[in-house]
Amino acid sequence: MLLGASGYVGGALWSDWSVRHTVVGTRSARAAPGLIPLDLRDVGALRTLLLDSGFDLVVHAAGLVDLADAERRPDLAMELNAGSVETLREAVRGTGTRILLLSTDNVFDGVADVYTESSARAPVNAYGRSKSVAEDFLAGEDGHLVVRIPLVYGRSVFADRFMARFARPRTAARTDVVCAPLYLPWLAGALEELWDGEGVFHLGGAQVVTRFELMAGVRDALDLPTEVVAVRGDDPAPAPRRPARLVLRSERHRLLGPGLDQALADLRRHRVSDR
Ligand SMILES: NC(=O)c1ccc[n+]([C@@H]2O[C@H](COP(=O)([O-])OP(=O)(O)OC[C@H]3O[C@@H](n4cnc5c(N)ncnc54)[C@H](OP(=O)(O)O)[C@@H]3O)[C@@H](O)[C@H]2O)c1
Repeated sequence: MLLGASGYVGGALWSDWSVRHTVVGTRSARAAPGLIPLDLRDVGALRTLLLDSGFDLVVHAAGLVDLADAERRPDLAMELNAGSVETLREAVRGTGTRILLLSTDNVFDGVADVYTESSARAPVNAYGRSKSVAEDFLAGEDGHLVVRIPLVYGRSVFADRFMARFARPRTAARTDVVCAPLYLPWLAGALEELWDGEGVFHLGGAQVVTRFELMAGVRDALDLPTEVVAVRGDDPAPAPRRPARLVLRSERHRLLGPGLDQALADLRRHRVSDR
């Protein structure tokens, strides 16, 4: 079962995994063909769906992900991102169904050079705090997994959230925020390699770049007309606190997403072949 199959990340996982596995995907507000409507706050509906179907694995890719929105509505972020995990944990207890929770590098504060699975969590924004509490609900529980991922980029099927930034004439990108972003088409296969394990795993991209370098790279690779405007965190516009440097690395496996150059070549190739 894939919670949040209509989302940016979930849509890519849904289209990839559906080819090889039997996947029941859920959606919330978005009209996405083939997906079951489910509100994470409807505890009864979630429990019924789980008990009726005997799933091997529930991949949780649903919730409130936008940093600014989570800052404005921290209670809702906590309810959707963390409360749903507690409900899910209780609903699968004793059934043999395992949970794979997609988490984030925003559970860290951004002051270390790299973060591994054993690094201490210290979130600095409401989104990160809600995901950290979500992780707590699975800590010490046998069989479940938490997979932390960084900023994801590339195309997706239902909610093409990353590429939508290039639909505007101008898009702002920080020159003082550094990450090792993950190319979305690579994620489904990597999760499949991990999902028989348990505990916390990190997945990261091979190349460390600024947000500005990422956005300008995509714009250039696809010859888009969008102006990518360089901004810094000390610009006057109010914004949620973003950790300055988030580089996820693993001490448990050797999987590493493609670097930016390789991913951009793939993005460009697909644009040409899609025409
Ligand atoms: N995108 C990234 O760069 C990134 C980075 C690190 C971690 N992650 C993690 O990856 C996961 C997916 O993120 P995303 O970027 O794909 O987010 P997204 O595009 O905003 O998708 C969120 C999903 O949650 C669903 N949802 C929202 N409210 C719901 C509710 N009340 N009940 C049930 N479902 C609800 C949405 O359904 P509708 O669209 O149908 O309303 C959608 O399927 C999250 O766990 C996030 O923490 C993402």
